[in-house]
Amino acid sequence: LTDAQRQQIARQIEYHSGGPYCHVLDTSAGLEVTVEPNVMRPMSSVALSQWIANNPWSVSGRVVIDIGTGCGIQAFEAARAGADRVIASDISDEACRCTTQNVERLDLASRIEVRVSDLFEAYQSSEVSDVIVFAQPLFGDDPLPEIPVTVGMLDSGQLIARFLAAAGRHLSMRGLILMVGWDFAGTVNDPRGYASSTGWAADVVGRTAVNGPCQVGDIEVIRLIRKRTY
Ligand SMILES: C[S@@+](CC[C@H](N)C(=O)[O-])C[C@H]1O[C@@H](n2cnc3c(N)ncnc32)[C@H](O)[C@@H]1O
Repeated sequence: LTDAQRQQIARQIEYHSGGPYCHVLDTSAGLEVTVEPNVMRPMSSVALSQWIANNPWSVSGRVVIDIGTGCGIQAFEAARAGADRVIASDISDEACRCTTQNVERLDLASRIEVRVSDLFEAYQSSEVSDVIVFAQPLFGDDPLPEIPVTVGMLDSGQLIARFLAAAGRHLSMRGLILMVGWDFAGTVNDPRGYASSTGWAADVVGRTAVNGPCQVGDIEVIRLIRKRTY
């Protein structure tokens, strides 16, 4: 990591101290999600939930898997945009407990199922979706065991490689994967660096200038579809 990236991680860790925290999903409807301590607070990934809200065609009437759901924001946006069913999972028990509480409070339990899972481990082989959403950790280093929330910020590249190798088994032939990109975070966790070798074609479908309390930058929404072979 560069010095600037280390400073950013330090800011993010500080930003996650204390809690719970409230994230407003929709100011006009007054919808809020609660983010418990040790659960990742929405930052750059807000670009992804906003993209889903602005592009309801991408999920409407579809089955969506939200990997690394955190407090559940992408799952909520998918359900509100008309997804038939959403499976929201995270490796963190605390994230899943937090998402379950938000699901119940927002009265979405009939459409969003929450489960603890390391990537797709807790998924049956028969569970195939139309859209897989993954707001992946962005910075290239190992998480800090003593600070659990860093599992959502840091990874040395194995997670994204494992994810892209397994995702095809849980995605319909014409399905799509939605992830995020942030140039500032570097290339270690950028899906574009892994797409071709794992059978995906990646392109940028959205770019949002995020100016939040903790992260400032241009965040990209990256779509991956199966690479065509003839
Ligand atoms: C950048 S955060 C995104 C959280 C949430 N989707 C959001 O946008 O605010 C990444 C999430 O991935 C989860 N995660 C990390 N490793 C994982 C794994 N192996 N399997 C499933 N989830 C994982 C983290 O716990 C964290 O909640």
